Amino acid sequence: MEDIYDAQYVKGVFDRCSDRYLTFSLLCSFGFTERWRRQCVAAMPHMGVPSAHGYDLMAGTGEVWPHLLKHFQSISSITAVDISSGMHRLAMQRLHAHRAHRINFVEDDVLASELPSDSADFVISTFGLKTFKPAQHVQLASLVARVLRPGGVFAMIEASDPKGWPLRPLYLFHLKVVLPMIERIFLRGAQDFAMIGTYSTNFGDAAEFAEMLRGQGLDVTFHRFFFGCATGVSGRKPVH
Ligand SMILES: C[S@@+](CC[C@H](N)C(=O)[O-])C[C@H]1O[C@@H](n2cnc3c(N)ncnc32)[C@H](O)[C@@H]1O
Repeated sequence: MEDIYDAQYVKGVFDRCSDRYLTFSLLCSFGFTERWRRQCVAAMPHMGVPSAHGYDLMAGTGEVWPHLLKHFQSISSITAVDISSGMHRLAMQRLHAHRAHRINFVEDDVLASELPSDSADFVISTFGLKTFKPAQHVQLASLVARVLRPGGVFAMIEASDPKGWPLRPLYLFHLKVVLPMIERIFLRGAQDFAMIGTYSTNFGDAAEFAEMLRGQGLDVTFHRFFFGCATGVSGRKPVH
């Protein structure tokens, strides 16, 4: 049995999806992913520094950067971390070449990376939580707490299981049946986007991750977006 949470397995999934990821996520979420990225950025508290530097973890092809740079004009640089070479290549060559002077892309497993302590004014992550299992979420929470400087801020969002929402069965049908079918018929893919659906339904929501961040001493607010179809966290590392 393959471990779908093994870093190399996850890398394979995203390397194979990278060239179609942006279109697929936009169309198949009916534009919601873009709206949720924007809402995630808006949920991040103010940074309070004139020239901010921070991390975009599980950055993909840099989908959140336009929202981030527009909302926080004080950002001078972003270090993006992603394990997928495909996503990296696409991000820097095709999509954001004009922003290259403000972006430093590190191709690495976030959980194995050695980002320096107290080095970030902000940490953001959009749709990068689902490919981790709970033990890895604990590692991620500890990383976020370690790399933020005191007073530094964070926001993260992930597609979630909208428990209790009357239309939940329809949403799950879309994720588990419709998306894999679209991939099979139109993309003739290796069911990689279907794997993204599996990660999403396994994830649940960000409530447990919020607790893990609190356990690391961070001030955390938990957010639900569109009936819980996405959930997120935002907050600050206290200044002691
Ligand atoms: C669903 S995509 C999200 C991309 C982007 N942030 C967005 O808003 O769409 C998840 C990304 O997480 C990356 N990823 C998964 N596990 C990782 C790990 N252990 N270290 C670094 N990146 C990872 C994948 O390569 C993929 O690009």
